[in-house]
Amino acid sequence: MSQRFAVILAAGKGTRMKSNLYKVLHPVCGKPMIKHILDQIAPIGFDRIVTIVSEGAEAVKAELGDRVAYAIQAEQLGTAHATLQAAAHLEGLQGTTVVLYGDTPLITGETVSRLLQHHEESSAVCTVLTAIASNPKGYGRIIRNSNGQVIDIVEEKDATAEQKAITEINTGIYCFDNVKLFDVLKRVDNDNAQKEYYLPSAFTLLREMGEKVSAYQADVFEDTLGVNDRVALAQAEAIMQKRINEALMMSGVTIKDPQTTYIDADVKIGRDTVVLPGSILSGRTEIGEGCTIGPNSEISNTKVGNYTTIRHSVVSDSEIGSEVQIGPFSHIRPQTAIGDRAKVGNFVEVKKSTIGEGSKASHLSYVGDAEIGKDVNLGCGMITVNYDGKYKYLTKVEDGAFIGCNVNLIAPVTVGKEAIVAAGSTITEDVEADSLAIARARQTNKAHYANRYNHKKK
Ligand code: UD1
Ligand code: CA
Repeated sequence: MSQRFAVILAAGKGTRMKSNLYKVLHPVCGKPMIKHILDQIAPIGFDRIVTIVSEGAEAVKAELGDRVAYAIQAEQLGTAHATLQAAAHLEGLQGTTVVLYGDTPLITGETVSRLLQHHEESSAVCTVLTAIASNPKGYGRIIRNSNGQVIDIVEEKDATAEQKAITEINTGIYCFDNVKLFDVLKRVDNDNAQKEYYLPSAFTLLREMGEKVSAYQADVFEDTLGVNDRVALAQAEAIMQKRINEALMMSGVTIKDPQTTYIDADVKIGRDTVVLPGSILSGRTEIGEGCTIGPNSEISNTKVGNYTTIRHSVVSDSEIGSEVQIGPFSHIRPQTAIGDRAKVGNFVEVKKSTIGEGSKASHLSYVGDAEIGKDVNLGCGMITVNYDGKYKYLTKVEDGAFIGCNVNLIAPVTVGKEAIVAAGSTITEDVEADSLAIARARQTNKAHYANRYNHKKK
């Protein structure tokens, strides 16, 4: 088999996005557009992938690393000029080159494979992937002759009213004979409305030179949506979200209302987990089997075990065990680890802490910078006093300890194994294992005082 190369154009300024973020790095379902493309084409096994970026595109390099080779397009003179920048990597090599635009995040590896197959079977030197668009505005139009052969690709800005009525569009994905590609690119001119060197002109030129050119029409326009502005970005997001949700449902996840469930591209969810409306699962989140997530839970970069419930809560950058109950209305902040069968309940905030197996913080607590052992009970309203205004300190509560309601644990402090802290205590010194700590003023009852007070009121 001859070699296969890919060139991804990503040097455009993305002016229409009106953004400080590099266009192809805009995320769709949590993943930069260009990464979607790379992940999709990875199984095809290209021998070389060259990404064309503009000068100062360090952010792109930081995101993609050495997955691809880079070529710099110093000035954005058009898509043909951009492709030509790959010459240093590819010129003269025998093989087939697929050119893709970095702003078409919905393209599937399957479509690219089918295009390649069509191209190789038809022995054309250039094959353009086309699609039928219900609203073709902004795309290059495919011009066919009376025999149905594609003879030209005309940009919206250069098109006549008659050509604008054509609904078959250029998707911006092509296969080229690599040697001929770099020959013809040097002959493309910029004699058009935008004074740009158009890559579609390479197709037309090759045809005029008597080379065999071909077109392959994709069955889904959706796949080839080009994201030029934020309206299209939202469209891409909606289509991608539908795909992600449907793939999860097909793999055994129940999504009660896919319309209001937002799951990032790389999130993993095990079978028989139920995701309820209003849930947002993002980043590198991994959820096990048989869990109930939501309603209205936001979980990012978090690993969750099996049979865990997370209702009406926010969880980020943490690890949650199996058969854990979280919420309603819990906030689990980064670097927290919650053990199996633990419970974090109503209005409890946990930050940078570990909570051991079977431990409970059921109501109204703040657990920050703490190591809570196994089978610990943190009473309602228990607070770790972890911050003196300058530094943060560690609180330790060892296995089996019982902390009563409304206790302040003033860190650094340790409550030993199976110790008990009486309700309302403010603990400033370590409590030894198996002891009872009470740190509160004794109660005095003043007889008839209430009477006097009530009398004054009248
Ligand atoms: C382009 C096509 C159009 C097609 C549409 C599909 C051309 C001239 N037009 O239009 O026929 O229907 O895509 O989405 O090719 N880029 C560079 N350097 C440049 C210019 C662009 O790297 O100098 C990159 C951009 O980053 C982008 C891609 O090429 O990823 C396409 O450029 P864009 O300006 O978005 O072209 P369209 O107007 O969408
Ligand atoms: Ca575009």
